[in-house]
Amino acid sequence: MFYKQLKAFPEGFLWGASTSAYQVEGAYKEDGKGLSVQDLHEPKDIADFKVASDHYHHMKEDVKLMAEMGMKAYRFSIAWTRILPDGDGEVNEKGIQFYNELIDELVSYGIEPVVTMYHFDLPLKLHEKGGWCSRNTIDAFVKYAKILFETYGDRVKYWLTINEQNVMINHPNAMNPGRIPTKKELYQQCHNMFVAAAKATILCHEMVSNGKIGPAPNITAIYPEKCNPADVIAADNWESIRCWLYLDVAVHGRYNSIAWVYMEEKGYTPVIEDGDMEIIAKAKPDFIGVNYYATATVSEARNDGTDCQPRNGDQQVMIGEEGVYRAAKNNYLEETQFGWLIDSIGMRVTLRRIYDRYHLPMLITENGLGAKDKLTEDGCVHDPYRIDYLKRHFHQAQLAISDGVELIGYCPWSFIDLVSTHQGYGKRYGFVYVNRDEKDLKNMARIKKDSFYWYQEVIKNNGLSE
Ligand code: BG6
Repeated sequence: MFYKQLKAFPEGFLWGASTSAYQVEGAYKEDGKGLSVQDLHEPKDIADFKVASDHYHHMKEDVKLMAEMGMKAYRFSIAWTRILPDGDGEVNEKGIQFYNELIDELVSYGIEPVVTMYHFDLPLKLHEKGGWCSRNTIDAFVKYAKILFETYGDRVKYWLTINEQNVMINHPNAMNPGRIPTKKELYQQCHNMFVAAAKATILCHEMVSNGKIGPAPNITAIYPEKCNPADVIAADNWESIRCWLYLDVAVHGRYNSIAWVYMEEKGYTPVIEDGDMEIIAKAKPDFIGVNYYATATVSEARNDGTDCQPRNGDQQVMIGEEGVYRAAKNNYLEETQFGWLIDSIGMRVTLRRIYDRYHLPMLITENGLGAKDKLTEDGCVHDPYRIDYLKRHFHQAQLAISDGVELIGYCPWSFIDLVSTHQGYGKRYGFVYVNRDEKDLKNMARIKKDSFYWYQEVIKNNGLSE
């Protein structure tokens, strides 16, 4: 086997964990919060996002647990509708106050706040006025961004503009209550998001001293099924369309030719207004947030009406696209209980590809194992499978660092159990268990899982001990 000298995780490495507002907070219409598109979306047969993990009312207790685990960073999102209930109207002081208190609490424990500005929860009022298809949403986002930088910029140095823009374009169901937009509309939404994120990036640099800002797409290496060159082209194409498109625009300030030609051929090209590409080119991210769960494997499209074979609506399961690629099986990899591939080496591959292409520091903003955790009679949650999963991924992260990749932190998904986008509390990711299930809110008690104690040791040692 090829010998590799392992480098240590750098000093000051941001060991952390992640959540997002609508998946964890609850209190969906309390203290002046407006509705977001997620408040209308109730995953089938499961608990909704309205109570979630009730973090809104357990904030101090939750941050105390973060400190106990030793977290150096906490990646969370701000609910746009707590700050601006209508998306672009009056400011809601109670919402401002909630995040002021959360940020102060984190800072008091020495935990670095890493703030996602927008994680799937567009204000409903903006959605009703055209959502991201409308240029007004760009202005609303800029107004919202100004408020965030002005209010929290003295304590928050790490900002993420938009969570998984590529997932919102490729899996639009959950973000668009009512009619699902056409592909043409989705690529217009996508362009408008690029402009909004670019404007926020420029503003952050103007308003936040030492502020660092970047995108947080869901990136995954795409493998060809065989060394058949036609499969390699299909994998290249899908990687460019699904992944690089989003980082190329954010970092290089341009659409890549493969994705652009794809949009032209399909009739999806967006309207680009005068000045848009200049703004996009001027905005320079400082780092890249990477959400990594699994790789995907594809083969050449047949273009005979069978390329797209929907299996389920998950963001991580490729389904194929007519004339573009077919989803293929990867016999080398195991799957989670929910059919997501487990590919720790694929994370190293992905990080190396991103670094080669952009040469920017990276922060892993999501990675983790969704499982059917059980609270056992001993009052504990034994999750050795999560420890095993994370151990393998941390090792590959260390190998990527040893390859020269500049990795500044690792925030697994998720700090605490929260509502999964498709499977509610039937699929848990947290280091901390929340005592509730789909139908019964029980007592919402926080219970440290075995992985909590394991991660505590990893953080203490600044890496794996074996
Ligand atoms: C990412 C999202 O796509 O995956 C999170 O940013 C999400 O919001 C996470 O929860 C895990 O996905 P799921 O569907 O298992 O909740």
